[in-house]
Amino acid sequence: MTKTPVLEPTRLARLREALLAASYTADGCLDLLGPTGYAALARSEAVPALRATRGGTPLETLLRLFLLQQPVPYAAAAAALPVEDCLADGWLTRDGEQVRATVDVRPYANEVAGLPSADAWVVSDLGCAVGGAGGIGSGETAAGVARKDLVLGVGGASTTLANLAVRRPVRSALDLGSGSGVQALHAARHAQRVTATDLNPRALHFTRLTLALSGFENVETVEGSLFEPVTDRRFDLIVSNPPFVISPGGRFTYRDGGMAGDELCRSIVKRATAHLEPGGYCHLLANWQHVKGEDWHERLAGWVAGTGLDAWVVQREVQDIAQYAELWLRDGGDHRGPGSDYQARYDEWLDAFEAAQVEGIGFGWITLRAGGAADPTVRIEEWPHPVEQPLGPHIEGWFARQEFLRTHDDAALLGARYVLADEVVQEQVGAPGAEDPEHVILRHNRGMRRATKVDTVGAGFVGVCDGTLAAGEIVDAIAQLLGEDRVVLRDRVPESLRMLTEQGFIQPVG
Ligand SMILES: C[S@@+](CC[C@H](N)C(=O)[O-])C[C@H]1O[C@@H](n2cnc3c(N)ncnc32)[C@H](O)[C@@H]1O
Repeated sequence: MTKTPVLEPTRLARLREALLAASYTADGCLDLLGPTGYAALARSEAVPALRATRGGTPLETLLRLFLLQQPVPYAAAAAALPVEDCLADGWLTRDGEQVRATVDVRPYANEVAGLPSADAWVVSDLGCAVGGAGGIGSGETAAGVARKDLVLGVGGASTTLANLAVRRPVRSALDLGSGSGVQALHAARHAQRVTATDLNPRALHFTRLTLALSGFENVETVEGSLFEPVTDRRFDLIVSNPPFVISPGGRFTYRDGGMAGDELCRSIVKRATAHLEPGGYCHLLANWQHVKGEDWHERLAGWVAGTGLDAWVVQREVQDIAQYAELWLRDGGDHRGPGSDYQARYDEWLDAFEAAQVEGIGFGWITLRAGGAADPTVRIEEWPHPVEQPLGPHIEGWFARQEFLRTHDDAALLGARYVLADEVVQEQVGAPGAEDPEHVILRHNRGMRRATKVDTVGAGFVGVCDGTLAAGEIVDAIAQLLGEDRVVLRDRVPESLRMLTEQGFIQPVG
């Protein structure tokens, strides 16, 4: 294994104090770089940050060392850090009068809905904190790390998953494929005990560094593939940003699962049920194949079938096989090598897809819940539109409403009371000057940010949903107002009541 910093608790605590004293935090870096420089850094563009850190203050020194991977004078490092400790433990190396970082240490605002933001740091390999391994040369990194073993920092997928998770206080959480430890970092704030697993021992060491530097002691790390390290154990929360890339070879452990096609994601879905506590949630990001002649909904339904879990699958994007191959060839830096190699690799990807009759790849997220229902709810849908972040609280609400719908027949639905959800607005669409609108649209500016067309009855119904009257009483009043048969209306309304409840436009009271 390539050398990574040693985890020595006392000296690590001193390093943490130094980072805090210099305001080497997400807020501190934002203040120093300004929104433009900070956003550029998130796109792996360093020039604005280099310009903003020429002064030699401790914060500027730390930013140059750990984020920009620049050598800094020993004296400047000594003013910012316990430099000899850091040299001894392998966070830094010395070259004459200059020192360099051996790893990327990125300030991170550890946000969990309902709790104040906490200062944290994510430790990962140099050169790939943002945007894959594309910035690393071929073979191994300058620090001598084999590309296969690289441990990435927080990427877009990491953030997506962190935002999806239901963040209620729980006893136990599992981060499957923990990498730099960012998911475990979030879970450590609301789970009493977190188990982080990974196939790559380097990744587990980075997880330990991230958690220890960020001040958490409630995380254990266990090496092994998928659920193997936790056979016979159950968790209240499972999160996984797995190596979901459907690729012809296992070149990068951080992204290539090494199983055929989308088998790795399927197997996590199938096996999650054996590791969830009653009521527990499992969130994972996944890619799935769109195979010629097969409806992708059916494919995903097959993954969930027989698990006994409630499931909500959302496809966010579909790419054709050429786009997909290009995305991951660029992620791996293949576009920087000789053109003939790039072409050969590209061919390899297309050959594999064609052989498996794959026409496209879906990207999305899967949430599973051990709701204990005999007939679990499975929703598989496409939703490429922007959503509110973090979405976790809304995901929890969706599963709760499913439980309500499952346990209420039409009569019970009419007997219940509802309130209009926050930030639902009504839009009327029609020809300019027309007396009546052609359509009435309800738009919800929260959660999935859905919109739906409603008729006069639906619009009238949600307009008076303030929780005081039962739905049936409202329907009767509307029937009288419109001169319609109340029995016919009572028969018709539950279907839209179900839809409005499921999609979160209205919420059952209690
Ligand atoms: C995409 S990274 C996710 C890292 C981190 N959890 C995040 O959200 O940024 C996937 C991680 O899964 C690990 N991994 C790869 N194959 C695995 C397997 N079969 N079992 C467990 N972990 C695996 C990789 O080493 C890598 O750390």
